[in-house]
Amino acid sequence: MDKIIITIDGPAGAGKSEVAKRVARELGYKYIDTGAMYRAIAWKILKSKINAENDEELQQLIDNTEITWQPEENVFHIFVDGEEITDEIRTQSITKKSNEISKIKKVREYLLILQRKAGLEKGIIMEGRDIGTVVFPQAERKFYLDATLEERAKRRYKDLIKQDQGIKPEKIKEAIRVRDEKDKNRSLNPLKAASDAILIDTTNLSLEEVVQCILDKINKR
Ligand code: DC
Repeated sequence: MDKIIITIDGPAGAGKSEVAKRVARELGYKYIDTGAMYRAIAWKILKSKINAENDEELQQLIDNTEITWQPEENVFHIFVDGEEITDEIRTQSITKKSNEISKIKKVREYLLILQRKAGLEKGIIMEGRDIGTVVFPQAERKFYLDATLEERAKRRYKDLIKQDQGIKPEKIKEAIRVRDEKDKNRSLNPLKAASDAILIDTTNLSLEEVVQCILDKINKR
């Protein structure tokens, strides 16, 4: 079967990353995590201590930043200027900063170019917030994953506990709620399902069930 572009969008904690990794493995596709790219820029902004709201400072940072990645079966390795930051970008401060800077036009335009380049080679599954609507509106298969806020907060809590980041469940729920609101209401490329996306509510589904559902829809092409 010809290789295609598959997009997965949805809010934080809907299960996009795990599902995308598994589907990629089943199909022999490359998995691309665009949230990691926003996090990489946030990491560099925090490290360089520039003011991201200042156009010139931000442009200079972008001109002098190289973001690269290496998808492996279970890990999306990401590098800034050759330095691997895969684990470092999962902190709460980077989560917050990446959400803040995702509303800046320059940042989105810069990442859009990188993301579209990645799609020149088909056989990719790319996940994020605006992949089916803006990055690849012509993608052959689009999915939008969602789940209740309670369920997504529960999943995020389990993840953070694994990484030993001490945080209370109620705080996680509130942080996700705020992030959802910002992602959905920003004026530039807000989070929403593409009109031709297949919607999957993952609240009561296991990872395997979601993966199977997606594979079935892809095979039915
Ligand atoms: O998926 P994530 O939690 O790693 O994403 C971090 C932030 O990046 C998220 O709050 C919004 C932003 N983002 C975006 O605006 N567009 C994307 N395609 C992916 C992520």
